[in-house]
Order: sequence, then C-alpha cells, then structure tokens
Amino acid sequence: MTDINDKIALTGGADFWNTHAIEADGLPRMTMTDGPHGVRLQTASADHIGINDSVPATCFPPAVGLASTWNPALLEEVGAALAEECRALNVGVLLGPGMNIKRSPLCGRNFEYFAEDPLVAGELASALVNGIQGGGVGTSVKHFAANNQETDRMRRDSQVDERTLREVYLRGFAKVVRAARPWTIMCSYNKLNGTQVSENHWLLTEVLRDEWGYDGVVVSDWGAVWNRVEALKAGLDLEMPANQQHEDAVRDALAAGEIDEATIDQAYRRVEDMVRKGLAGLADAPDGFDVEAHHALARRTAEEAVVLLSNDGILPLTPQTRVAVVGEFARTPRYQGAGSSRVNPTRLDNALDAISAIVGHDVPFAPGFTTAPGQDLPASAHDDAIAVARDADVVLAFLGLGESHESEGYDRETCDLPAEQLALLKDLLSANPNVVVVLSNGSSVLLPFADKVRAIVEGWLLGQAGGAALADVVFGAVNPSGKLTETIPRRLEDVPSFLHFPGDDSGVRYGEGLFVGYRGYDAAGTEVAFPFGHGLSYTSFDYSDLGVVANDSGLAVTVTVTNTGGRAGREVVQAYVSVPASRVVRVPRELKGFAAVTLEPGESRQVEIAIAAEELSYWSVIDSGWVTEGGTYVVEVGSSSRDLRLTASAQVAGNEPFRPLSLTSTVAEAVAVPGFEAVLAPLLSVFGEDPELMKMMESMPLAALLGFSGQPEDAFVAVLDGLNAAGKQ
Ligand code: BGC
Repeated sequence: MTDINDKIALTGGADFWNTHAIEADGLPRMTMTDGPHGVRLQTASADHIGINDSVPATCFPPAVGLASTWNPALLEEVGAALAEECRALNVGVLLGPGMNIKRSPLCGRNFEYFAEDPLVAGELASALVNGIQGGGVGTSVKHFAANNQETDRMRRDSQVDERTLREVYLRGFAKVVRAARPWTIMCSYNKLNGTQVSENHWLLTEVLRDEWGYDGVVVSDWGAVWNRVEALKAGLDLEMPANQQHEDAVRDALAAGEIDEATIDQAYRRVEDMVRKGLAGLADAPDGFDVEAHHALARRTAEEAVVLLSNDGILPLTPQTRVAVVGEFARTPRYQGAGSSRVNPTRLDNALDAISAIVGHDVPFAPGFTTAPGQDLPASAHDDAIAVARDADVVLAFLGLGESHESEGYDRETCDLPAEQLALLKDLLSANPNVVVVLSNGSSVLLPFADKVRAIVEGWLLGQAGGAALADVVFGAVNPSGKLTETIPRRLEDVPSFLHFPGDDSGVRYGEGLFVGYRGYDAAGTEVAFPFGHGLSYTSFDYSDLGVVANDSGLAVTVTVTNTGGRAGREVVQAYVSVPASRVVRVPRELKGFAAVTLEPGESRQVEIAIAAEELSYWSVIDSGWVTEGGTYVVEVGSSSRDLRLTASAQVAGNEPFRPLSLTSTVAEAVAVPGFEAVLAPLLSVFGEDPELMKMMESMPLAALLGFSGQPEDAFVAVLDGLNAAGKQ
C-alpha cells in the first residue's frame, strides 16, 4: 500500500522538470520537458521562459511552419523523430503541442500555435501527438483552454459564450483527445468564464473526462495552480513545477476532511500510469540520434511550410540571375520563437550561404538593418544596401520580425514590420523595381507593399534548416505548396477580434463570438491581404467533377485535380461547408476537410475528402448538446477559402431533437408543427388578415396570443400536449 504522503507528493513535481520518485512503489522519477518543435532539455539551471540554454537537439519548424504544410503524414514523421530525440535524452513526456486558436495576429505566442481554425489545428496536432506517442514518448496538449493571448496570461478571465467555446476553442482539443489520446493535457494559466482554469471542474472533469472520455493526466502549466486542493477537486492530477507549500496544504486539507482520499488516489494513479508508460518508452533508449537525418527531415518539413503569397512570374529564379541579397535575416536567420519553446539547434542553415551555393559564388549582400537588440548599424549601411540593389537583376529582401517582437509572455502592439525595414524596402524599390520579399515572422504582418514588389515568400519560422529551404523555393529546386492557416489582414482594425483584444482587468470578452479569423472576414465581406488557405505554386491546378454524397458517416466528397502547368507540384485541396437555410447563427463557410495531392505536369487524380458526421453539427445552446440540422449542405471546394472552384450540395437528414411546444413557443414555431395551424387559426382570426400584422404575430409567444384573444389556457394546453405527444412518436 502506497503511503498517503507519497500519493500526495506525486500530485506535484519533485523539481522543475521531474516527477517524484516513489520508492515504496518502485517508481523512479520521470523527466518532462519543452518542446514542442524540438527537445529543450536543460541540464544546468532550469527556467521555463527560455533563458538558459538546453542540450542540442533538432529544431524543427515551430507550429506556425508545421501547420502551413497541411500535411498530417509529415507531422507524424516529425513526431517520430522528436520521440527518438526524447528517448536519447531520457525525456518521458514532451510538453506540446500547443494548439490554441489564433484569435488575433497580435498574440505573442502565435508561432507556437497551428491555426485560426479548429479543424486544421486539431488534425495537425493529432498527427504530431500520434507520431510522438507512437515512438513511446508522451505529449502534453496545451494550453487548455481559451488561452489566446499573452497579456496578463496568468490571471485574465477569458469570457467566451458556450457555443463559441465548443465550436471554435474546444473543438480542436476534443479532436486530439479522441484521435490521439494524449498522455497529458496541460491546463492553461488563465481564468475561463470566471474560474481559474486549474480549478475549473466544468472544463477539466465534466467536458474533458465525462464528455470526451479522457483518461490521461491533467498537468498544470508551470505555475498555473493557485490552490492545489481546489485544483485536484476540479480534475487536475499534477501540479508543475514543485511547490512544497501547496503539497503541505493538501495534507492539511485531507486531515481537515476538505478533500477525499479518493480524489488524491485517482490523481496518483493517473500520474503513476503516465510515469510507468514514460519509463517503458525509455527502456532500451538509444544513446543518440541521427543528427544528419533529422536535419534533412527538418529541411523537408521547412520546404513544405514555405507559402508563396504572390508572384508575378519572376519566381523561380535561375542560378544565372544576378541577385543581391539584402536583410540581416538572410545571414542570421529568425527560425523559432522566444520563450519556453526555444530549442538549441544541432545545426543552423542560413539562406545567404544556401543561395551562394546554388549560384556557385558569393552573392552581393548587405544587412540593411540589424536584428541585435540595442545595436545600431552605421549610417552607411542603408546606402550599402541600396548600392548592391542597384547593381543586381533581382533583389531578395529578407524582412521580418526580430525575436523581441513576438514572444511568450507578451503580445504585439502592432502587426507592422519594423519601420526601418519598411523605409529600406521603399528605397530598394526606388533603386530597383525587381524586389522579391522573403519574410520571417511567427505571426501575420501587414504587407502594404504587396502590389509593389514582384513576389512575396512567406517563410514564417522554419526551424534550423529554414535558410536552405527558402533558397530552394526561390530558385525552384522546391515547388512551394504551403498554405496559410491564418488570414493576413489588410489592416489590424479589420481583424474580427480587434475591438475585444486583449481586454482589461475585468476580463477579455470574446465578443466576435464564432466569427474568428476567416469566419469573420467572410461574414463581413472584408477585403484581406491574403486569405486563409491561400498559397501559390509554380504550377497550376484545375478542379473538375465535384461529387458530394451524404451517408451515415457524414459527407463523401470527391473531386478531380489536374496539374495544368509545367512542373510537378502539390496542391492542398480544401472543402468548406455552409448551411444556407440554417435556423441558427452561422458563419458563411467553415473548413470541414482537406487533402493533398502531388501531380506530375498533365496528371489528373481524384481526391477524396471524408467529412465526418460530427463535423456537421453545431452546439445548440437550447438543447445543451451537438445538433445536426436537417436540410441542404453546400460544399465548396478549392485552393483557398477565397478561391473556391466548385460547388455541390447534399441533403443531410439531421438529428434535431424534438422540441415540445409550450406557452413560450412563438406563433411561427407553432405553425411549423403539423396540425397546429388549424388550432391557431381561430386565435389569429381576431387580428384580421393583414399580412404585415401577421408577420408581427410570428414572434409572439402563444401565452401572449391567448391573453390577447381572451381564450382559456387550460383547454389550449391540453391541445398542445396532444400535439406534442403525437410529434414525439
Ligand atoms: C509555458 C508552457 C511550458 C511551461 C514549461 C510555461 O510558461 O506556458 O508552454 O510548457 O512553461 O516550460
């Protein structure tokens, strides 16, 4: 029998990264560490904000890059490689992936998140979790939930209506829990609708465990627990890092009868199970990993992550093109974000060397600006950049955000590129109209120069091999196929959450509701710089023969895609669904499935996208449950959310629950029930036949109608009951 003190001890960390060893149970300690796009194992002094270096490990592209691939199979491969590195470094659980919705481009941590859409975030996070856990190492899906900003992240109350919460902010988490069964879920720092998430019983127990069937560990974000007793009661199992006072408080609470031993037992069992699984995965662990092979995988991933935003035909360049490279990021890559996810890479490619290797000589280069905080370049640096630009056929301008611009722990205040870079670009364009912009940034930046430059390559943050991948895309060794998982707006003010971000001490109200990202831009008809799902290729694709069939599992979508250009290429086919005659508030269209196809020039292939039945449901506040409306579902298929090539529809049976009529039902609701029109006719007749008056009557509750007509309620209620009983059958 394990001693109760040992049990209590296991509900908290032994130190910063380890669980307690419980000798009586033969349970050694186990190490957890960040991630998620590489292993961040600290051997000296520990911190969780990225200050102290960790042992070298492969730095794969962070989630912003991984997501742009829209390639679950590739993410599984990355996951398997991450697991191998974890095992080699004796890490039992990798603390990731992060999968919060990108509600605003200002969120300082967007680089660590996948998308503004829960379907693509959920699918990709599931793939990564499957890859890592398939390799015998645990994951921690984070930050659960509604942690969509960094401002005041440890206290701010995220105020989200239940439908929005379910359909946008929890949907992706539910998908991962069901599809990949993560060993742990990390609860977030913030409050949710008034309750600290670490103490939120509704979220951690009723939704996560009772509804979704989660049986793993809920671990706290580092320092997210204010009161371990309340947290355990709410469904938390493991507080990290160690906190002796909180551990003592659990002992006191047990002695005082304020917490059941069963609650502690349950948390203990879950943590024990996780540790045993972790240690089993670490048995026979390799001594090291194949650094070169993992670097190659990081490069392949980065190649698929690059998004070609615009191109008037100037790209790809040939090695003979006389290029000049401007911008410090070409030499000193910005390849990952700042904070707890910072990985110490095994190698680091830069685009400048890679370009020189492709063209066969050193290319003219000028840094143009510095990325080192607190340093200034001499005034001549600007002129040097203009001079190299003037002498070239094509200028490759490597612009972007520096590390300090976006980080865990704080949000951005603007979406602009730094003013000095915009000024430099303007002068470059005066010197040479053939400018191609190559971007490095963890979250969207505004691109007011989009129609002045000849092409824009969005490199996001691409991990340690990103430099080489960018060069390969620019020179055509790689045909780009990445697509945006976040909209790039024209103005910050256009962002649907703009007026409600980041809130204040009274909380952050998710006032845009369901209308997050493209859902909001589409509903308002707002012009955007580049829409969700967008990404160009050096070839072109034609769409034909769209078929949509409704069946018991949902919708089966088929479409033929043909490569109509001159190069082999990969197209990410996207399927969006709308319900035009819906009786509830709906966004214009939602991504409900996607699939990629790689085609040789002239080749055609049929692509199949299965849309699961549960994807068609909405959260009905009235029924407190998921409901699928019966009726016509329109499926639009295309190359982006605003490049929809084909449309088809299908009839879906739906599963709307029977809603009995009552005296609070309206006239319109009542006449929709067969047999009821006749019952209402005499009551309505007193109002005459004026169609305008009849329209007004539609929203009148039956109780009010009875009142106006002077009819007794009892007889009427008996008729209602009869019709309800008939309707139920
Ligand atoms: C971050 C987590 C991270 C943890 C441990 C926290 O500050 O929010 O994402 O896993 O620290 O470093």
